[in-house]
Amino acid sequence: MLMEAKGITKTFNKVKIINSFDFTISRGEIISLVGESGTGKTTFMRLLNELEKVDAGTISITGDFLCRMTEKKTVHYSSAKERNQYSNKIGMVFQDYQLFPNLTVLQNCVEAPIQKKIMTVKEAKIKAGKLLKQMNLLEKKESYPKTLSGGQQQRVAIARAMMLSPEILCFDEPTSALDRQSSNGVGKMIQDIAATGTGILIVTHDIEFADEFSSRSISSDTFI
Ligand SMILES: Nc1ncnc2c1ncn2[C@@H]1O[C@H](COP(=O)(O)OP(=O)(O)OP(=O)(O)O)[C@@H](O)[C@H]1O
Ligand SMILES: [Mg+2]
Repeated sequence: MLMEAKGITKTFNKVKIINSFDFTISRGEIISLVGESGTGKTTFMRLLNELEKVDAGTISITGDFLCRMTEKKTVHYSSAKERNQYSNKIGMVFQDYQLFPNLTVLQNCVEAPIQKKIMTVKEAKIKAGKLLKQMNLLEKKESYPKTLSGGQQQRVAIARAMMLSPEILCFDEPTSALDRQSSNGVGKMIQDIAATGTGILIVTHDIEFADEFSSRSISSDTFI
């Protein structure tokens, strides 16, 4: 098991969005999370990426805990060190990519690993070069995001999320801005990433895409 989440509960303004939800991802598994608008799919992904905090629940990736329940049934977030180890094992590709507009493609990729002192500048550039080559973007490495097409920006976001070789990679609506042919390209790319053992979580409205490219689909109806 790569990721285990148990008893995940989240309330916004007294409205329970997610109620004691259990979730696991195994090595190489591609899970699609589907469901109606407003049912908490993005929220769930943000909880796993520590962009929101759970009200209750335990979340871990291969032995590193983001948070866990105490004996008093309250949630305890791990030390900064353990959360940092956890966060290095998970990456997220946002629906709107969220690239840094003032940094080149290469700089977008190397920024976090260098800032976090996980890689030297040289190591980061070598890794980014490999990933950008894999994403067919090497010739764009000195370009700024706004000069790229939507699909190219998305591939930069994927390369950036893969810099730390995360165990789990999350995609929020990866095909919402793409035509069917490009969607299939992204689906195949995701399958290639999963084939290396990475666990994938995809939030999508695109049922056809979910059926074709995932190993398992879950519905956000089961959040409540
Ligand atoms: N930071 C927040 N503060 C208050 N309410 C929020 C916050 N984030 C999300 N919500 C609410 O939580 C609910 C779930 O939102 P979420 O974005 O997770 O849904 P979703 O399933 O991703 O929807 P969509 O398919 O439209 O993207 C919505 O009612 C939303 O208004
Ligand atoms: Mg959403």
